Amino acid sequence: MNITKKAFGTTPDGQEVELYTLTNDNDMTIKITSYGAIVVSLFVPDQDGKVADVVLGYEKLDGYLQNDPYFGCIVGRYANRIAKGKFSLEGREYTLAQNNGENALHGGLVGFNKVVWECETVQTDDIVGVRLSYLSKNGEEGYPGNLNVNILYSINNNNELKIDCEATTDKATVINLTHHGYFNLKGHDTGDILNHEVTINADRYTPTDETAIPTGELADVDGTPMDFRSATTIGARIEDDFEQLKLGNGYDHNWVINRSKDDLALAAKAVDKTSGRVLEVFTTKPGVQFYTGNFIEGQKGKDGAVYKKRGGFCFEPQFFPDSPNQPQFPSAVLHPGEVYQHKMAYKFSVSK
Ligand code: BGC
Repeated sequence: MNITKKAFGTTPDGQEVELYTLTNDNDMTIKITSYGAIVVSLFVPDQDGKVADVVLGYEKLDGYLQNDPYFGCIVGRYANRIAKGKFSLEGREYTLAQNNGENALHGGLVGFNKVVWECETVQTDDIVGVRLSYLSKNGEEGYPGNLNVNILYSINNNNELKIDCEATTDKATVINLTHHGYFNLKGHDTGDILNHEVTINADRYTPTDETAIPTGELADVDGTPMDFRSATTIGARIEDDFEQLKLGNGYDHNWVINRSKDDLALAAKAVDKTSGRVLEVFTTKPGVQFYTGNFIEGQKGKDGAVYKKRGGFCFEPQFFPDSPNQPQFPSAVLHPGEVYQHKMAYKFSVSK
């Protein structure tokens, strides 16, 4: 296993950005930049051993300075939506930017995907990795508390990408970190993902209103196009006349992962039959947002690719959307003295 580092450009305010390349002994290569803690490329073999880059992304730093789809990044301080950009905590109301209609989305105007992280390489007998750290100051994007965030991205020889997140605060705050990779297991530049077979380990999901905020209900997937308890292609029901799919312009919902305790549980799986590539996603958090790239619209990506609607899908493990305003959901509050932890694993293999 091996790690190399090179320059990846300079931000408009003069900060130097790095690109780390991590390689294991089984043909897996991942490129991670210090800008936004973004996975720029992820190469894995198919059933014949042929390697392809299976994540959407930009060729250069420039693309990531805008990055409306949030390709490949760590999203924070609060991934997903907070209704009307407001929440109350310990008797105080906090106001966030309304950057998604009237709601707050993905940490605000300058979220964790648009800052430069401190990096340190890690290598042991079993893994190669990069540890990224960022101090989000009290009041940044309207959130309370100085929040120290650490993310360890690592790969091992089982072709697993592990993402271990930790954070501490000096004042009560809310936190919801996730990874926002867009996958296309045929290859990032091969068109839409509608033929991927998806399984989601969930009996229930959180239906939303027309602004993508959960209604608070945990609805049964049974008998609906939201039922992915057995493998179904993404395209099979995506255009069904089902209110939630109309509201989301496709799949853009949080599923309630079936689990008994807070350990690493299987959230979802995708299989691309043409290449044989398989992705399984594990998390220690209660939910997973399954998003089918409904708002991708002509982004110019790596290798001259132009990404189209549904050119990639995301499995984003996390707390449920809008948890700060929905006391019946698992709490996303972090207090001083506690350590926020979120472990995610993206495991690649091939089906025979
Ligand atoms: C959200 C989508 C949003 C996308 C890009 C996803 O996590 O669920 O609604 O369009 O991120 O911001």
